[in-house]
Amino acid sequence: MPHSPTIALLGPGAIGTTIAAVLHEAGRTPLLCGRTAHPQLTLRYDDGEIVVPGPVLNDPHTLTQPCDLLFVAVKTTQVDECAAWLSALCNTNTVVCALQNGVEQKDQLARWVNGATVLPSVVWFPAQREPDASVWLRASPRLTLPDVPQAQQVVAALSGTRCAVELSQDFTTVAWRKLLQNAVAGLMVLANRRAGIFSRPDISELALAYLRECLTVARAEGAQLADSVAQEIVEVFHRAPADLGTSILADRQANRPLEWDIRNGVIQRYGRRHGIATPVSDVVVPLLAAGSEGPG
Ligand SMILES: NC(=O)c1ccc[n+]([C@@H]2O[C@H](COP(=O)([O-])OP(=O)(O)OC[C@H]3O[C@@H](n4cnc5c(N)ncnc54)[C@H](OP(=O)(O)O)[C@@H]3O)[C@@H](O)[C@H]2O)c1
Repeated sequence: MPHSPTIALLGPGAIGTTIAAVLHEAGRTPLLCGRTAHPQLTLRYDDGEIVVPGPVLNDPHTLTQPCDLLFVAVKTTQVDECAAWLSALCNTNTVVCALQNGVEQKDQLARWVNGATVLPSVVWFPAQREPDASVWLRASPRLTLPDVPQAQQVVAALSGTRCAVELSQDFTTVAWRKLLQNAVAGLMVLANRRAGIFSRPDISELALAYLRECLTVARAEGAQLADSVAQEIVEVFHRAPADLGTSILADRQANRPLEWDIRNGVIQRYGRRHGIATPVSDVVVPLLAAGSEGPG
């Protein structure tokens, strides 16, 4: 009998529900691990919905063995609180695929996973959690992972599902490009508005200035990104539906902690490391940090 890998999903929110649902649809339902014992997970998309039977497990101490493949889709601000889950789900044979924003997933997860291999990914699709905890998938699911041998486990698990997986030999560039998109989306938090704000000439100009600053830092970190990327990213926001949000805006509006450090603070931190001036970050980052953590 061929060995079927055991798959688990930690963090069945917007992104986690999407991945759990596509795996379930392909007959590879993952073990669902989370904070709230949701009775089931529901993913809605343009033409229908997928329901993944639950309940979501919410006690890591009930687990008896690690899994082969773990998808981690908790927010980066929630990783440390998941230490017991990560310890129970991982050993040196486990492949952990981080479904999280930023360029620092590997460093952030490595200390909790008992020597498992951590693979970062770029999550390209927007998904939105609705008030009833169902998830609205707003584009075709697509991930990019680094082209390393362990990534084949993710490719195999998601093969034949509605989530496409691409492997990149220059993952650094891909991850920084996505980070630039996330960084500029932070402006939506400061304006308390969705993507429609980018149709304003003053916001487009600010976004371009911020993106040029981010580009300088990204290149210092080894990303091969042309000057034209700044304009291309602003155009992505111009084409987006005016009501398209971003997970950091959803968090702000719900008064939850923000992933400001891995999406915006990182530009300022790495800029300092390379001696690059970051005047836009120096305004944006404290405002996001204060919005997230106060006081006040
Ligand atoms: N949403 C998007 O469109 C999108 C797109 C690209 C990338 N991303 C990135 O993907 C990552 C996940 O974002 P998301 O929007 O999917 O977040 P989310 O909807 O807030 O989901 C987080 C999930 O983690 C669970 N969780 C929180 N703390 C936990 C704990 N201590 N133990 C176990 N489970 C815990 C939450 O449980 P509850 O059910 O109790 O809340 C929730 O199910 C983030 O890094 C984000 O930046 C998001």
